[in-house]
Amino acid sequence: MYDENLRVQKEVVLCEDGTNTLYSKEFDEPYHSTKDGALHESLEKHVKPSLTLKSDKEKLTILDICFGLGYNTFATLHYIKKHNLTTKVHILSPEFDEGLVRSLNTFDFPPEFESIKHIIEAISQNLRYEDTQFKIEILLGDARESIPQIRQKIDIVYQDAFSPAHNPLLWTYEWFRDVRATCKEDAILTTYSTAAAIRLGLYENGFYIFVHRAEMTRYSTVASLQMLEDLEYIDMELKKIRNSEARSMRDEDYL
Ligand SMILES: C[S@@+](CC[C@H](N)C(=O)[O-])C[C@H]1O[C@@H](n2cnc3c(N)ncnc32)[C@H](O)[C@@H]1O
Repeated sequence: MYDENLRVQKEVVLCEDGTNTLYSKEFDEPYHSTKDGALHESLEKHVKPSLTLKSDKEKLTILDICFGLGYNTFATLHYIKKHNLTTKVHILSPEFDEGLVRSLNTFDFPPEFESIKHIIEAISQNLRYEDTQFKIEILLGDARESIPQIRQKIDIVYQDAFSPAHNPLLWTYEWFRDVRATCKEDAILTTYSTAAAIRLGLYENGFYIFVHRAEMTRYSTVASLQMLEDLEYIDMELKKIRNSEARSMRDEDYL
């Protein structure tokens, strides 16, 4: 039976990049790789590759799965402000832990987030924020239910759930099918997972798979609905031949 108390049991952990994350007792793992660092991981695995690939767009709609401490959303705003970009950004972010989001105004974030303190404050109070450039909406509740209700068309997906072993229903073929249904035809998805099962789940939903390498962090995955130049392409048909045991994860195995 689900234990509601576990959701509030979290400990602050200092990462190797000097930024703080949390350890979740409910999921038995940290919110970020403590080795890569919360802010560093967010910037290197999600924000930089996505905003670089979509640098020609004036408006972006981003699906941030899931909000957690909000690092991916806040690092996106930080990056845009730091580089004086005029891109308008709408971020939709599912999250079922309302208590966590409401507590973020007291979380010890890095100095890089100082200029967006008012945004963090607004999100913890109202679960949303809007100005002339940025719109952020927390979709409160189970992501499996909120994703199929999204009517906006998504440019970028940050796939940053807890690990497939601990949060399997946010990594299955069916999950990626629902995520893909929200996407524009040229959407991209970034994720820290490099597992064959996860890449297969994306590939079976029409994504091309690429390796993303960045400094001082483990390599990660960029998936795209269109073929991309200048990225390290992975031929998934070849992978399937070489690793004939590999299978995408399926809802039926976890429900
Ligand atoms: C690894 S953390 C996300 C970290 C976040 N991206 C950040 O940068 O701080 C995973 C988050 O997913 C949330 N979560 C897990 N399963 C969920 C579900 N089915 N629906 C909504 N949120 C979920 C957890 O509460 C947790 O906040």
